[in-house]
Amino acid sequence: MELREITAMFLEQFGGDETDLRVFVSPGRVNLIGEHTDYNGGFVFPAALDMKTTIVCRKRADRKIVLRATDLDVVVEADIDRLNDYRNLDWGNYQLGVAYVLQQAGYDICGLDMLYDDTVPHGGGLSSSAAIEVATALCFATLSNEKNGITAPVDMIAMAKFGQQAENEYVGVNCGIMDQFASAMGKENCAIFLDCKDLSYRYAPLDLNGKRIVIANTNKKRSLGDSKYNERRSECEVGFALLQKELPDKNCLGEISRAEFEAHKHLITDPVVCKRVEHVINEDDRVLRSIEALEAGDMAEFGALMNQSHDSLRDLYEVTGIELDTLVDEARKIEGTLGSRMTGAGFGGCTVSIVEDTAVERFIDEVGKNYQAKTGLTASFYVSNIGDGGRELK
Ligand code: GLA
Repeated sequence: MELREITAMFLEQFGGDETDLRVFVSPGRVNLIGEHTDYNGGFVFPAALDMKTTIVCRKRADRKIVLRATDLDVVVEADIDRLNDYRNLDWGNYQLGVAYVLQQAGYDICGLDMLYDDTVPHGGGLSSSAAIEVATALCFATLSNEKNGITAPVDMIAMAKFGQQAENEYVGVNCGIMDQFASAMGKENCAIFLDCKDLSYRYAPLDLNGKRIVIANTNKKRSLGDSKYNERRSECEVGFALLQKELPDKNCLGEISRAEFEAHKHLITDPVVCKRVEHVINEDDRVLRSIEALEAGDMAEFGALMNQSHDSLRDLYEVTGIELDTLVDEARKIEGTLGSRMTGAGFGGCTVSIVEDTAVERFIDEVGKNYQAKTGLTASFYVSNIGDGGRELK
């Protein structure tokens, strides 16, 4: 929705006038390469999208948080003094989880009327939840700081961490930091090269030279995605603990090189766990090579690495599935596609492809048609613009 429509809806639902309204936004993300590496202390290379969560809000005089959404017929009324109690809500638990972790960290959570609008597709693997979490964290932290006379700008990396903490501890999904970091720290026309070991990062300008980033949504609803995600994460932990027997100085898989893995992989006797670890080690290496390729303007190499990433997520990490694989296979058949892979957690969600500008229309047409013929599902396509991270709109 356009901001003025969201504002009009806010006034219709909560009454009053525009005088005291505040607006906070934070975007979804696409990850170009580096999948299932973040929670292993590895590298990722995401970029923020122009699809986002917008919150229009206004302070209340009492200690209630009232949540509504532009696309849902739901009203959640929460008590600021009982924020721990809303974990099982169908909608509203991400928002209240963030308010809860901020409160635990000492922020002064105020009563608010809040209307949420999301243009990031839900459950599509483009981090609609991180967008909600970071926008919510920024909103409550900004208002808390104002109330307490703190004038320093809100620390966006801290907001990313609060978002992840809420998702891990309140919602119960053991996600890494990538999505919230990209949502909080995104920069127009840049991808973020992030080292998840210590959160050091740098921006890499996406000078695509006549190519576009095309996102294709399988529109397959993710089922069991969260439990499979947590399962992969534990498999990596098991594999790392075994390698650590001979590599006691290492703190995470992200610190283990390919050569070290080759020399010690005999310690992992379970072939499934070994495949998972092999993916993580190789994927980390691919991120480094893909950034070199991008910076050297070698988009063909960048695309080839994206392809290898997908194949590894399909064969070694086993998080793709027929829908993602079909979209990728069809994408690669189009002349002008440099590379195509799944993005995000997998098990449904989206693919990301680098496509020559002149081939984009044909790409959308043919991939869409062939995907439908093979799966019976209709894909959605977004030619993405890379936007800024979370901020208040004044
Ligand atoms: C999800 C998680 C991220 C990351 C990706 C896989 O998006 O939220 O932390 O682990 O999956 O790379």
